[in-house]
Amino acid sequence: MKILVIGSGGREHALAWRLAQSHRVQTVYVAPGNGGIATTPGLKNIAITDFSELASWAIEEEIEYTVVGPDAALAEGVVDYFESCGLKIFGPTKAAAELEWSKDFAKAFMTRHNIPTADYQTFSDAASAHSYIDQVGVPVVIKADGLAAGKGVVVAMTLEQAHQAIDAMMVNAQFGSSGARVVIEEFMPGEEASFFVLSDGHNILPLATAQDHKRLLNGDLGPNTGGMGAYSPAPVITPTLHGKILSQIVKPTIAGMAAEGRPFKGFLFVGLMIQAGGIVRVVEYNARLGDPETQVIMPRLQSDLSLVIEAALQNRLDTIELEWDRRTALGVVLAAKGYPDHPRKGDPIFGIPKFTDDAMTFHAGTLINEQGYLLTNGGRVACAVGLGDSVRMAQDRAYALVDEIKFRDMQFRTDIGHLAIAKTKKN
Ligand code: AMP
Ligand code: GLY
Repeated sequence: MKILVIGSGGREHALAWRLAQSHRVQTVYVAPGNGGIATTPGLKNIAITDFSELASWAIEEEIEYTVVGPDAALAEGVVDYFESCGLKIFGPTKAAAELEWSKDFAKAFMTRHNIPTADYQTFSDAASAHSYIDQVGVPVVIKADGLAAGKGVVVAMTLEQAHQAIDAMMVNAQFGSSGARVVIEEFMPGEEASFFVLSDGHNILPLATAQDHKRLLNGDLGPNTGGMGAYSPAPVITPTLHGKILSQIVKPTIAGMAAEGRPFKGFLFVGLMIQAGGIVRVVEYNARLGDPETQVIMPRLQSDLSLVIEAALQNRLDTIELEWDRRTALGVVLAAKGYPDHPRKGDPIFGIPKFTDDAMTFHAGTLINEQGYLLTNGGRVACAVGLGDSVRMAQDRAYALVDEIKFRDMQFRTDIGHLAIAKTKKN
């Protein structure tokens, strides 16, 4: 069978690579794809981004089903459109993806269903937002309601930062209409972790846990990015916490969405804050997989992903059990000079090794030019993933891989996994 994956990042490279491992799958097409997808056996780029053109192409090519990677496509309703063309597609509808594309919807939903999260209020005029901030004080968190490419959240430690964030979002429209409404919420201390599940709208199949490093620089300093590295599993999520997250958060979310007439079919990514004493609250929902978390989850998945998604499309996820590689996977993101604000493109990339059982490099911002050279083509260029029996061993393997890869002014963190390693030492 042929499968289509929508997207162009490392997440999509990892998803497509895993799908292509199945003997049932002939080719996985990725639209628009990247330079690594073009050179991975079994994968092909398809240079179409317009949904209606892509749907016509999928019909002509007899694509069995489509899997959606990025949030923007979901928020634009790609699932609704493909379904209206009679195509099978795995991902939430626009209405179900509102859990991600409107923070206000997500917060109100959690309140309606008693799902633990930070207290909040929503504002659509700047003056009331300013006076609310003066009333609650700092630290406080200010979030643009709509999608803002991961940049619409300000954790304000001073009143000045908080007021500036309100002005940037509501008065100067830094994120366009996404910031016309803002959610102001209580600051939650603790350690963040990501929890991933698949759902067919009713049944839930937990994937693996992961943690990512959002800040650009070592020691979790510097500006926020899409993610500079990740590892799976996340040791902070103990078996007890795992059970609690499923019963207090994931189950009421999937049941609540179904009860509200927008069943959530797709990958659900719950961002969590874990506090001392085992208190877990939701930071945010994403209606998709994480990037770079997917790059460390897919290498650990041993089940045939094409069968798992097929079961989800047929509403029978309750018949599936997943098998996991017990090793830890750790991924280091290699970013271009200038990332995250003004990444430089067009630098030649050398030395990316072939995939092995314990080391694989997933591409993100790369392309192959007309002369056949691999060039950088975005902020996050690639993610070098190592697997090992401990976090430390996975880390060593990943950094050995990083040592082999070269492009001009490559940026990367040298401490991916430090929280997990500190935790293993303590225990
Ligand atoms: P979000 O896009 O909602 O995930 O927010 C981006 C980042 O801001 C999160 O990954 C957290 O590091 C931080 N953050 C968001 N909300 C809160 C909160 N209520 N308390 C503390 N940190 C938060
Ligand atoms: N790495 C976080 C995300 O994909 O949103």
